[in-house]
Amino acid sequence: MALDDQPLTDVHATQRKELLAGLLEPPRSINPKFFYDERGSELFADICELDEYYPTRTEINILRQESAAIAEAVGRGCELVEPGAGSCEKVRHLLADLHPSAYLPLDISRDFLLDAAQRLREDFPGLEVRPVVADFSAAFELPPATGRRVLFYPGSTIGNFEPAGALDFLVRAAQLVGKEGGLLIGVDLHKASEVLNAAYNDSEGVTAAFNRNILHHANHLLDADFDPEQFEHVAFYNAPAQRIEMHLESRADQQVNCDGTVLTFAAGERIHTEYSHKYTPEGFAALAAQAGFTARGCWVDDDSLFSVQYFETV
Ligand code: AVJ
Repeated sequence: MALDDQPLTDVHATQRKELLAGLLEPPRSINPKFFYDERGSELFADICELDEYYPTRTEINILRQESAAIAEAVGRGCELVEPGAGSCEKVRHLLADLHPSAYLPLDISRDFLLDAAQRLREDFPGLEVRPVVADFSAAFELPPATGRRVLFYPGSTIGNFEPAGALDFLVRAAQLVGKEGGLLIGVDLHKASEVLNAAYNDSEGVTAAFNRNILHHANHLLDADFDPEQFEHVAFYNAPAQRIEMHLESRADQQVNCDGTVLTFAAGERIHTEYSHKYTPEGFAALAAQAGFTARGCWVDDDSLFSVQYFETV
């Protein structure tokens, strides 16, 4: 079976189960990976353009400005693996300096991934691009390594995990890259609550639309009848826990039918949709150390908004 041709029906059945389980079990939740249907991906792209939402442009500026230093730390000829690669845009800023032996973007949206891989091949002739349709959070296989493996995980997606889950991810990352492997990761930084609250409560309401859209996706996946307008976008920085929390709060007492299962919501009851944990560079390095990673580089913008960090196993 070709690596880009795994049966997607299995993936979908697993996802439906996970989605329904989260909605049934108190406190109700939907895993943030369900934000990214086609509309959700568009809305996220719009978020990245907002003045208030600093992470994406700040990370891209770091990758651009520091790409030579990053390449020197990582070393040429590595095999670069990117979970949840999507449009494969960020890696472009590294390729000219990094010269990997191969680039393996992983994503669950098959057609989107294969298109992105093809565009990358066209723009970087000679680059070996080997897309893998896979969900990094589930079991998957990679072809035999063609060089030292380095995991590229930009976007502060790691922030979605609670610390225990983040450690879990880092342990699996360390296993995947093996001895003398690497991890190049984007990590959003702890900062003034006002800056963070604004980034997740933008004045145009794009983040609110993005949050509510997860219910459209749930309707589609589960044959459910959520009315997204009956849920309020709630986002705030929980400073002691160093995380943004996003929820959808029921505006009224209401019932929602999910493929035969009836969910009863009281007015004010919330569905938790996302955590976005923020770290200090030292705090994140300490977490990575618990997974066996040694810090080899950390690049931060002038305003200390965002970090790109590089770690290696021994
Ligand atoms: C893609 C998980 C990094 O946490 O900032 C943006 C998602 N949610 N606005 C983040 C998100 C609301 C984003 N990550």
